[in-house]
Amino acid sequence: MDIYAHRGSSGTHPENTLSAFKEAARLPIYGVEFDVHMTKDGELIVIHDESIDRTSNGSGLVKDMTLEELKTFDYGAWFSVEFEGEGIPTLQEVFVVFAQTSHHINIELKSDIFPYDGMVEKVVALVGTMKLDKRVVLSSFDHGAIRKVKQIAPHLETAALFMEVLVDPLNYVRDIPADALHLTLPAALRLTISQVITEGFAVRVFTVNRVEYLEALKAAGAQAIFTDYPEKMSIYLNAK
Ligand code: G3P
Ligand code: CA
Repeated sequence: MDIYAHRGSSGTHPENTLSAFKEAARLPIYGVEFDVHMTKDGELIVIHDESIDRTSNGSGLVKDMTLEELKTFDYGAWFSVEFEGEGIPTLQEVFVVFAQTSHHINIELKSDIFPYDGMVEKVVALVGTMKLDKRVVLSSFDHGAIRKVKQIAPHLETAALFMEVLVDPLNYVRDIPADALHLTLPAALRLTISQVITEGFAVRVFTVNRVEYLEALKAAGAQAIFTDYPEKMSIYLNAK
């Protein structure tokens, strides 16, 4: 069972910050997951929500602010005073953290609320510049974005994100096309995972923070989980 640090090590550090990613990078885990939006001036930025309200001391939509404006706020104090002064990282800054590690990198394209014209092309270009083509999987709830990735860079791994159980997952995913399904825990447990894997698709499940659920998914045959507590899960798995 592979472990991905969800938004970095987000249970112990402020999500999607360099602190959370540096913590993930030091852990003996398979991968890391994070979320990408685009700023008003077309920069790729790593944050979960489309607004900065929940995870910073500022307010407003990412798409309405420049990178310089976004960089003026604090993205750590909301989590703990220990992380006061934490900034918002660009995609490139996050790639640099993992440049010398072997972690698999799941880039979630957060274009499902605002379309971010040109974001897919920019992400694909940066992955190429940083020579990370063989180490990334690009995922999204916006399945049009995944389709676009395959059109411009067919060699890159993609994953379709789902909240719900699908009626006919295999044909749907083949049609996008995507290489993997990233599913919520309830959706995954209602699916015949072994059949999906036999057909050649990876199945990874979010967000799994309890070992009981990890065990259920392992028994069902899922390849990987996204967790906010990667160190805890890694220690649990290695002790078995
Ligand atoms: O990529 C898996 C998971 O991160 C998707 O949900 O809301 O945490 O981005 P969310
Ligand atoms: Ca995500």
